[in-house]
Amino acid sequence: MSLNNNFAQLQQEKVIEIEQLLREYLPVQSGYQKIITEAMEYSLMAGGKRLRPMMMQEVFRLFGGTMKAIEPFMAAIEMIHTYSLVHDDLPAMDNDDYRRGRKTTHVVYGEDMGILAGDALLNYAFETAFHAFELCPQDKIGKALQVLGEKAGIHGMIGGQVIDVKETGKQIDREVLDTIYELKTSALIEASMMVGAILAGATDEELEKVEQMASNIGIAFQVQDDILDVTSTEEVLGKPIHSDEKNEKTTYVTLYGIEKASAVVEERSKEAIALLHELPGENDYLEELIIKLIHRVK
Ligand code: IPE
Ligand code: IPE
Ligand code: MG
Ligand code: MG
Ligand code: MG
Repeated sequence: MSLNNNFAQLQQEKVIEIEQLLREYLPVQSGYQKIITEAMEYSLMAGGKRLRPMMMQEVFRLFGGTMKAIEPFMAAIEMIHTYSLVHDDLPAMDNDDYRRGRKTTHVVYGEDMGILAGDALLNYAFETAFHAFELCPQDKIGKALQVLGEKAGIHGMIGGQVIDVKETGKQIDREVLDTIYELKTSALIEASMMVGAILAGATDEELEKVEQMASNIGIAFQVQDDILDVTSTEEVLGKPIHSDEKNEKTTYVTLYGIEKASAVVEERSKEAIALLHELPGENDYLEELIIKLIHRVK
């Protein structure tokens, strides 16, 4: 069977593996604060696409990585991503009540627990990643943790969400919008792919290429997310449509229309593949994944 025919099945197997890993790393539910571990599990174990741990692992494989140390980092990146979604959906932010095919965490557990569950996932992500010290040389772990922290922080995802929220309801130009996308979405994809590369022993030059590749994937991914917000359905997406319109967000769709936005998705994805080809090693699955994301429907 060609990779193409096999792709959906392979992807599903990878998702199952990642979800097993997430379960292993979830905190035990105990103590008077048990409610928070329940809320963490509720948001983390809802059906996400698991793209970030998947991309981390595939870049790790591209560079010939084999150590177990990748596993706590895979769990950590999905925890950070999930926390970003839990907070993104809060009434004070996008105010959405549906995510990953279920009621959002703050709807089920209350706004207070929604905030705390997000905080808890972020903190637990680092508690989890620290376990890598038991599995791998310290210098690599140190560098991977630094990238993870920075890309999730004020110069990464949080910074992007800050500008996104600050500019809500205002007309913004392409430069500001690109900054928002680069930070709120590309940064965590960069972290995913860079951590995979670092742990597998990539050189600094290779790491820079991985960062650029992931940046392009992230922009393409966010533009497609904006398109789907207009063209998809709540059943397929597992989250509300027209959230951007409700929140008066400037997006690629409002600036350029769907057709031109789709062309950007394709261009950025092709750029990512060109960069992938400049890297040593081969990973047909990763290449196919980047292509499949161009036309993703959820
Ligand atoms: C949603 O990310 C947030 C964006 C950056 C657009 P995903 O589309 O990867 O969400 P899940 O993890 O599959 O739920
Ligand atoms: C989210 O952007 C980026 C995050 C860091 C969570 P959106 O607000 O467009 O994501 P969705 O559409 O709610 O998943
Ligand atoms: Mg948002
Ligand atoms: Mg949102
Ligand atoms: Mg969106």
